[in-house]
Amino acid sequence: MIVVADALNIISRSGGAFASRWAHVVVGIMWIGLLYYFNFVQVPAFAEMEAAARNNALDKLAWRALWWFRWAAAATVVTGFLILAFQPGNGAKIQLFDMDYLKTAPGMAIATGILLGLTMFANVWGVIWRNQKIVIANARNVQAGGEADPAAAGAGRKAAMASRQNAIFSFTLLLFMVGTGHFFGINQYFNQLPTGGNRGGYWAVVLVIWLVLELNCLGVIGGRGPGGTNIIYDTHKAALITGLVLVVVFYATFYIFLKV
Ligand code: HEM
Repeated sequence: MIVVADALNIISRSGGAFASRWAHVVVGIMWIGLLYYFNFVQVPAFAEMEAAARNNALDKLAWRALWWFRWAAAATVVTGFLILAFQPGNGAKIQLFDMDYLKTAPGMAIATGILLGLTMFANVWGVIWRNQKIVIANARNVQAGGEADPAAAGAGRKAAMASRQNAIFSFTLLLFMVGTGHFFGINQYFNQLPTGGNRGGYWAVVLVIWLVLELNCLGVIGGRGPGGTNIIYDTHKAALITGLVLVVVFYATFYIFLKV
């Protein structure tokens, strides 16, 4: 009986929120783990490989990794919204429709994380996968003795810039994902009910930083070449350092506008 009652608890609100949270972390690890594999392992390794070996790896390895990568990204978004759908908001409302929650410190933290997560998801499907399809098709064609596609190198660069930007965003995303329940929402040093002015100031700074970085990885600000504002994508070490600096910048912004 106890086992049945416990099993039924899974479909209760708190059980549903917990199950979604568990699934969210599993698929989130799968997505971001593969993102780090691409950025810190595959791209540097491919740069050292001979063209024939690289084409074979694109054909046999990279497309498999990309399959798990893009579907894990989709599953992360779905399970993330499931947490909001199960988690109780104010009164009877579910958290997803609780606009007052978004005005609290944890609400602002999770909204920032979701902004970055949805942007990264759009980069995965709209830029990385779209362009990697061209790169993989070219590798397969060349392997089969066909002509190289002149558009492949440009497509690879577009995917690489978005991928490095996602790696940069990912550290800050995790700051807010994990920080919502375990830091920003329970910390006495943060104002749990910030004023409209403080919320507006916070969002103004966050949205500008977010927009500039996203436009930059799309080539709108610094084009597609190396150097200039694209210096942050020139090496995986540059992306790593930029990602860590961004964590400090976002944390400082949160602190400045939400400290008690
Ligand atoms: C893209 C859209 C995403 C949405 C809508 C979303 C949504 C959420 C929500 C609602 C929570 C619960 C916050 C709370 O109340 O404590 C959460 C937590 C979390 N998310 Fe996400 N998330 C997204 C992306 C990601 C990604 C890409 C990762 C990468 C691994 C991730 C990892 C986590 C982790 C580790 C937690 C903390 C779980 C805990 O502390 O209990 N999320 N997310």
